Amino acid sequence: MSQYETPLFTGLVQHAKSNPIQFHIPGHKKGAGMDPEFRNFIGENALSIDLINIAPLDDLHSPKGMIKEAQKLAAEAFGADHTFFSVQGTSGAIMTMIMSVCGPGDKIIVPRNVHKSVMSAIVFSGATPIFIHPEIDPNLGISHGITIESVEKALEIHPDAKGLLVINPTYFGITADLKKIVEIAHSYEVPVLVDEAHGVHIHFHEGLPYSAMEAGADMAATSVHKLGGSLTQSSVLNVREGLVSPQRVQSIISMLTTTSTSYLLLASLDAARKRLATEGRDLIGAAITLAETIRQEVNEIPHLLCPGKEILESDAVFDYDPTKLIISVKDLGINGYEAEKWLRNEYQIEVELSDLYNILCIVTPGDTEVEAAILIEALKKLSEQFGKADDEANHHHVILPDIPLLAMSPRDAFYSETEIIPLNESAGRISAEFIMVYPPGIPIFIPGEIITEENLLYIRKNIEVGLPVQGLEDETLKTIRVIKEFEAIR
Ligand SMILES: Cc1ncc(COP(=O)(O)O)c(C=O)c1O
Repeated sequence: MSQYETPLFTGLVQHAKSNPIQFHIPGHKKGAGMDPEFRNFIGENALSIDLINIAPLDDLHSPKGMIKEAQKLAAEAFGADHTFFSVQGTSGAIMTMIMSVCGPGDKIIVPRNVHKSVMSAIVFSGATPIFIHPEIDPNLGISHGITIESVEKALEIHPDAKGLLVINPTYFGITADLKKIVEIAHSYEVPVLVDEAHGVHIHFHEGLPYSAMEAGADMAATSVHKLGGSLTQSSVLNVREGLVSPQRVQSIISMLTTTSTSYLLLASLDAARKRLATEGRDLIGAAITLAETIRQEVNEIPHLLCPGKEILESDAVFDYDPTKLIISVKDLGINGYEAEKWLRNEYQIEVELSDLYNILCIVTPGDTEVEAAILIEALKKLSEQFGKADDEANHHHVILPDIPLLAMSPRDAFYSETEIIPLNESAGRISAEFIMVYPPGIPIFIPGEIITEENLLYIRKNIEVGLPVQGLEDETLKTIRVIKEFEAIR
């Protein structure tokens, strides 16, 4: 089969065209049985392929037909031995990677700035995390990748680890020397699992960092929906044979996946793969050029900084993805969230994320010079409005959360006897909950960690400016569940 073919998407369309009489779910029966307003909005075409795993349409849980063919083409396109489609987002693919290699008590080496799905999988599997400090960028107030030295050290101390997880690229588009990391991990026969949520496109353009499969990694959870053109929630899990068993991966992903898999999501993966494989290089090349133009223009605006190649000087930055525009607004004397709100209110611009110091804008083949020009105009206005004289007062001091000590395994903490106490009085206690700012969804505390005053301050600062702090059972963020302490009986 050629990369120009879409066996799953084409198969579904042909099935719909044959106009079958459907006595099966979904009960909306091509839209006829649903709310007409919604039906008209979504459109008949989409509803005609919102189908289910009847025999002619294959089954994601045991693919033998059109899904198998589509996954095979995807594997070929990504340079993997096997590709598994995920309708549970990259979160589902990440949980599958970890649970495929780790059981209760097994060690897994992970950077601390991982997405919450990694921590969830650690709780579910009962694995023990061995944390590596990510490199912190003190100017931008963001964390980067991990260094070769820290990987070497972690593996020297824990050669029995069952896996090493690497975020490549980070949300901000930074990559580590993944080839070298893979080489080191493989010398210990430790498989490398890559969170490639923000890097589906890098495989398809030689001007971008190495993809996980190019670097020789064993598994990669890759968000096709984020930057590859498929529908939200659809991702792939790429697997290289050798240190991991594809059969095990198939059974774990199946355990974590709904039996009612969305064929709209699956078909969109098939179509996105075709476009990436056949036109991706040109489309991504154009996005890189557009992003570089925007970067240059942003850097001409007073008080704003959009880092480019110079970011490569840091130890943990081996390469970067120029389509990610990290725009530092801290010299304007405002925080990233204020800039985000201002852009929304004044220009109807929605950014990808903001934090205390930056906004992040992503450029994809879906953008043109029209949107780029509006962004530049808006940023010029933002700078005029907030940028006072370049005095000291405008230079915010960057604060970042510390990495707390882990007092017990996340799973033990999650299932321990707990009590609820005021968040403000929780320093020194062991957290039984996750707390994070989403996006990016990197936990500030995970179950089992000792709560520190510094991190409570960081949380308060985020709440104060209105950033989306979440994860606690108490949505008002006033209380936290901690491990219960028992006084001696007198
Ligand atoms: C680094 C990272 N990994 C994993 C994920 C999870 O991806 P998904 O939303 O597709 O489940 C995200 C989502 O934002 C992420 O930023």
